[in-house]
Formats: sequence, C-alpha cells, structure tokens
Amino acid sequence: MSELAFSTPAIEPYDPSLSRTSASSTDEDEREQGLMGPPVLIRPKRALRANVRNLSFWYGGFQALHAVNLPVVNNGVTALIGASGCGKSTLLRCFNRMHDLYPGTRYDGDILLLPEEKNIVSEKIDPIMVRLRIGMVFQKPNPFPKSIYENVASGLRVRGITQRAALDERVESSLRQAALWDEVKDRLHQSALGLSGGQQQRLCIARTLAPNPEIILFDEPTSALDPIATAKIEDLFHELRSDYTIVIVTHNMQQAARISDYTAFMHLGRMVEFQATDDFFVRPSHRRTEQYITGRFG
Ligand SMILES: Nc1ncnc2c1ncn2[C@@H]1O[C@H](COP(=O)(O)OP(=O)(O)O)[C@@H](O)[C@H]1O
Ligand SMILES: [Mg+2]
Repeated sequence: MSELAFSTPAIEPYDPSLSRTSASSTDEDEREQGLMGPPVLIRPKRALRANVRNLSFWYGGFQALHAVNLPVVNNGVTALIGASGCGKSTLLRCFNRMHDLYPGTRYDGDILLLPEEKNIVSEKIDPIMVRLRIGMVFQKPNPFPKSIYENVASGLRVRGITQRAALDERVESSLRQAALWDEVKDRLHQSALGLSGGQQQRLCIARTLAPNPEIILFDEPTSALDPIATAKIEDLFHELRSDYTIVIVTHNMQQAARISDYTAFMHLGRMVEFQATDDFFVRPSHRRTEQYITGRFG
C-alpha cells in the first residue's frame, strides 16, 4: 500500500541538541518559589472537537508528558506555547499517532475525538485511520516531488476519490482556500518543487485541507519562512479558523495572540494554563505564565 504511505507524513529526525529541558530546578524548588501549583484550565464556552484528558507520554524511559489536559474547541484555533523542550511537539504528535512510527513510545490517558468520544490514542484504534482523519503541516514545507496538482490530489485518491471532475473541483477549492490558486492556476502540472518556500507551505496546507480533516495540526508552520510569507499564512488562519479545527504550536507569542482563539501554556511536560487568548495575554492566572509572557524566562 505505497499510496497509504502518503498519509504518514515525513517526520523530522529527532535531534536532541535542538530541545533543551531545564534540569536545574526540581518540582520541589518550584513549589517553594510558588511557581508550580495546580494547573489553571478554563472550561471553554464553545463546543469542543476534542478533549485531552490526563494524557501522559513516554519516549522509552523518559516521560515527556505528565497528565496533560487540553480542550480543543470546534472550528477555532488552539495555540500551544512554551519554552523549547516543554513538550509542545510531543503533545501535537499524539493527535495523529505519529509516535507510533517509533518503537518504545507509550501513551496513557485519552484524546477523545468528539462527538463520538473515540479515544484516538487507544491501542484499539488503528493509527492509520487516525492519520486519515487528522491532518498535519510541518515546520519545513515538505511537498512531494510531484506536480502541484498531484500534491493536492494524492490525498483525495488515497481516500477513494478518483473521478477527474471531482478531483479537479476539490484541488481548485483547496488551493483557493490556501490562498494559492491565483499564483499557480496556470502551472498546475509543473513540479511543486519550483515554488518558493512560502508557496510550498501554502501548497502543503492545501494538500492537508483537501480531504477535509477533522483537526489540522500545525507545528511551527511559519518558523522557516520570511516575514512576508509568514504574514500570508497568518492571514490564512483568519480565513480558516471559522471552518476548521486547528491546533498550532508556535514559539512566537505574538503569533499566538494574533491568530488563536484559545492559548495553552506548557512547562516541562505539564499543562500550566489554558484560557481564551484575549484573557491569556492580559490576565494570566498563573505566575509562571506571567513570567513567560513578560519574557522573564524561557
Ligand atoms: N524522539 C525523542 N526521543 C526522546 N526524547 C525526545 C524525543 N523527542 C523529544 N524528546 C524530548 O521530549 C521533551 C519534549 O520535546 P518536544 O516535544 O520536542 O518539545 P517542544 O516541541 O516543546 O520544543 C524534550 O525533553 C525532548 O528532549
Ligand atoms: Mg517542537
């Protein structure tokens, strides 16, 4: 099933030097400094699409997530922020069972997909089915070495859509949704690799949107792009946020403030605070959150 391999996105190899976890302070020290305390989690007023409940995760013997809770609002943007190495990507990758591609990884707890309340990290659920329903866009644009058209169409073909007219229609509407159509409509059958970095990332977004996934995960989708390309992608979020459920990791707090409806702050594998974005940056409930957003650590 080489076609199905498509739904398993390329993973960036793990480079421990890119992540760092502060080992200098223990939980005990933090409690003494009044920094730990119980996490603050506001119940969103909006309908949820997913609910992360007491999710723990291990890479071999290393526990990277500790009983994390996170509501994911339906048709909205949830941003994950926190210092490098705090577990943002690890949490995001649980949503499409990407960790299952590596031996020795283990989940405990739930990510309930709503409304069915299906626990997508359960061993009973096939990770390939999860990846068909939950799309992901990576930090570095990773178009397939195929035409622009085929990049968008291939995910549709995998899902059984093969009629030319249906493919044409969905390819066009996805490219329009990704604000790329006008730039590529005259060269749909040329290689995607000829596009600029920002265009490639919008193509990857179109490819992810095409099969209409239930949730779309973005892991720092603009950190490899220049400011103009970044602004175009941020504009796109404003268009997509009312129709798609999005979870985005960003190390850029201004970006989280600009594009998200809810913001979650993680520290050392734990969820510290979750609030409506408008409140999060103005009235953080937790001292550690305040320190982070005012730039006093991290
Ligand atoms: N493949 C892996 N194997 C072992 N440890 C990992 C792996 N990937 C990440 N980690 C560790 O898990 C923790 C969280 O990493 P990560 O989720 O990448 O953080 P973030 O995305 O917030 O920078 C870090 O301590 C990191 O070193
Ligand atoms: Mg990361």
